[in-house]
Amino acid sequence: MQYGYFDDERREYVITRPDTPLPWINYLGCEAYFGIISNTAGGYSFYRDARLRRLTRYRYNNAPYDLGGRYIYLRDADSGKFWSPSWQPTRHELQNYECRHGMGYSIIGAEYNGIEARTRYFVPLGENLEIWQLTITNRRTAPAKLSAFSVVEFCLWDAQDDATNFQRNFNIGQVEIEDRVIYHKTEYRERRDHFAYFACSEKTLGFDTQREAFLGPYRGWDNPKAVECGNLSDSVANGWAPIGSHQVSVELAPGESKQIVFVLGYHENPRDQKFDPQGSQVINKRTVKPVIAKYLKPESADRAFDELKAYWESVLNICRVDTPDVHTNRMVNIWNAYQCMATFNMSRSASFYESGIGRGLGFRDSNQDLLGFVQMVPARARERIIDLASTQLPSGGAYHQYQPLTKRGNNDVGSNFNDDPHWLIIGVAAYLKETGDWSILDEPVPYDNQPGSETALFEHLQRSFQYTLDRLGPHGLPLIGRADWNDCLNLNCFSDTPGQSFQTTTNKEGKIAESVFIAGLFVLAGRELAEIASRRGLKSECERYLNEVQQMDQTVRKYGWDGEWFIRAYDDFGNKVGSKECKEGKIFIESQGFCSLAGIGLEDGLAQKSMDSVRKYLATDHGIVLQQPAYSQYYLHLGEISSYPPGYKENAGIFCHNNPWVIIAETRLGNGDAAFDYYSRINPSARESISDLHRCEPYVYAQMIAGKDAPTHGEAKNSWLTGTAAWNYYAITQWILGIRVDHDGLRVAPVVPGSWRGFTATRKFRGVTYHIEVIREGTGNHVELIVDGRPVEGDLIPVPPEGTTDVHVKAMLRAAKTAVRS
Ligand code: GLC
Ligand code: GLC
Repeated sequence: MQYGYFDDERREYVITRPDTPLPWINYLGCEAYFGIISNTAGGYSFYRDARLRRLTRYRYNNAPYDLGGRYIYLRDADSGKFWSPSWQPTRHELQNYECRHGMGYSIIGAEYNGIEARTRYFVPLGENLEIWQLTITNRRTAPAKLSAFSVVEFCLWDAQDDATNFQRNFNIGQVEIEDRVIYHKTEYRERRDHFAYFACSEKTLGFDTQREAFLGPYRGWDNPKAVECGNLSDSVANGWAPIGSHQVSVELAPGESKQIVFVLGYHENPRDQKFDPQGSQVINKRTVKPVIAKYLKPESADRAFDELKAYWESVLNICRVDTPDVHTNRMVNIWNAYQCMATFNMSRSASFYESGIGRGLGFRDSNQDLLGFVQMVPARARERIIDLASTQLPSGGAYHQYQPLTKRGNNDVGSNFNDDPHWLIIGVAAYLKETGDWSILDEPVPYDNQPGSETALFEHLQRSFQYTLDRLGPHGLPLIGRADWNDCLNLNCFSDTPGQSFQTTTNKEGKIAESVFIAGLFVLAGRELAEIASRRGLKSECERYLNEVQQMDQTVRKYGWDGEWFIRAYDDFGNKVGSKECKEGKIFIESQGFCSLAGIGLEDGLAQKSMDSVRKYLATDHGIVLQQPAYSQYYLHLGEISSYPPGYKENAGIFCHNNPWVIIAETRLGNGDAAFDYYSRINPSARESISDLHRCEPYVYAQMIAGKDAPTHGEAKNSWLTGTAAWNYYAITQWILGIRVDHDGLRVAPVVPGSWRGFTATRKFRGVTYHIEVIREGTGNHVELIVDGRPVEGDLIPVPPEGTTDVHVKAMLRAAKTAVRS
């Protein structure tokens, strides 16, 4: 069953009924000002940091689930009836309800009693504000006399404090109202130099800024007293809960339309110019007023919208494909790329499952996000790499997270996740391959943000690599620390106290438990580092890295192979995790996917065997589960992984993030059918028709789909902010379609299904547009290239002469000479 459809032409997903199984959301903003918006206009806005600079209030896990947002009410003056054209919060039965989630905007609206109202919400490029363009049309045969009401509830900036510290918060709320603009200035009198504002393009009949005056006692957003009566009371918030609401009167002849523009924004003043006049307590509005005036004009709003569209057009044109599969086309050309922007911007901080309070930017997460983002805005990727590396510790280890506003490592979560440092190598390698900008390696970057500690970025990578060599366990495999990629495999935790954090509790010294996954990661990162070193002319360094990699490869074969698959880890007692010897958790996906994609056992059949075992034991129709059998009880020595009921999250859920590792491994083995089959099982667009089961948005990946041990097998959770976005984008574009960036140029090495006759693609790469046509001329993956009419050996397109703008590539696929791809 579906709740809408894809409008690929307009790059929109169109939701046609408001009661989706879960809120289906979109993001507004892609630079510094952000909003989350659901299909019924729920959600909130923030500046840079969802925890520390929250503009509007949102109550997670509400009932109904999604309540609080950017709401409009319309009221018919004659009948006294009122409703919300976004359905929430009044939930009247509407006609022609539609929510169009597009690239950086959402248009939500419907008809009610012959009055059509739709609002376009978006954030203009380069501005710290959002625009709501409300268009009301009278479809009746008689004139209509209406009132339109807007409303937002302000958050007192620090979202954590806002939700908990009421003894203070009920006293500090302050607003100013000037020229119909509502300014929210809580704490502006003291240490904050920023405020929010909410403005309306029309002459208003009134305003409210005190929540209880608007709602009335014991009423909710579905039934505000002020709207019911048809009058706002010009209330001024002093303490309690400041809101912003405007009332506009709208009279429309039959067929007539009217547009009202609302602008909600964030503004900062220099500290010494906060007040006007100086010495008063009144906000200095000199610099903000022109901004507000500009965007209240519908023409400026339209222009800003067109600019946003053009921006996305250019970003999405960097890689476009036309394959025989509509779901692939749609995800690669539109939604998967779009989701990669969101994960880059938000890491795991703010979604409908991440409260914006819990997590900052993750070190491993943000580095992996680069795999799907770097081609879009390389300059921002560069800045991110420097920010991440600046939080690295002198040991080569890393803070697990940092706060986006302060860019400082987050001490609450600490460090010692022993996989973390390697992701920096992977992220930097991706950046180098995309851009060829080797200057980044010489950039001076501090450790732990300590001035004076700077070394070249390259040394950060060296220390990342060394970090593992300094922490090898009894078998010569990497010690796991608090956890590796799997945050829940806590082999040094041994927590028996309710509520203790699995992530930060460490009751063991950590000298025994080892991770085969990190070994695979080490091999991959080590190869990347060796490649980088050799290109910097560091021959002996390069050899050293390759020797260490070779050594680790051997160690994995010796102690990390179980006969049919790769072992997952050794626990604190030196016992195997993820082995046929185990009672539960005999086989895990991570070590199969990662060791194989890193190249361990590609030549001698181990990787193929491991893939066969994945198919046999882990694959389901809804994707590949994390391990089998699921843990049926809590195991002290395994930690959080066994805390989840079977089939959910890290306990045998389909953790979509690691499915693409298997997909890439399959392509490295030349198995195009298998790779594409796995890709399609979790492709959200391909799951659209089972939306009632899947429940999350059909246009973006979710972190998890319940595994076969769960009663709700096939149900997704935690959509949007997941490494799944970057990894799947990387897997489909660079490995299945095989349009792969490399230090020396672009490769074309597809490993696609045997049934595909071919496909076409355009890829912008280092200033050149490559027009690629892939034609299947036989079975297999052997590639013969014709570049601008001339045959070329191998799968690498030679770097075109300076000044070339376009290159035409034909790639013929024939029977493979060897099964294994390098
Ligand atoms: C979450 C985390 C990620 C981790 C994964 C597996 O998605 O954000 O860092 O690797 O879970 O535990
Ligand atoms: C929990 C989740 C895991 C996530 C971690 C982040 O352990 O199960 O997916 O990575 O929290 O702190």
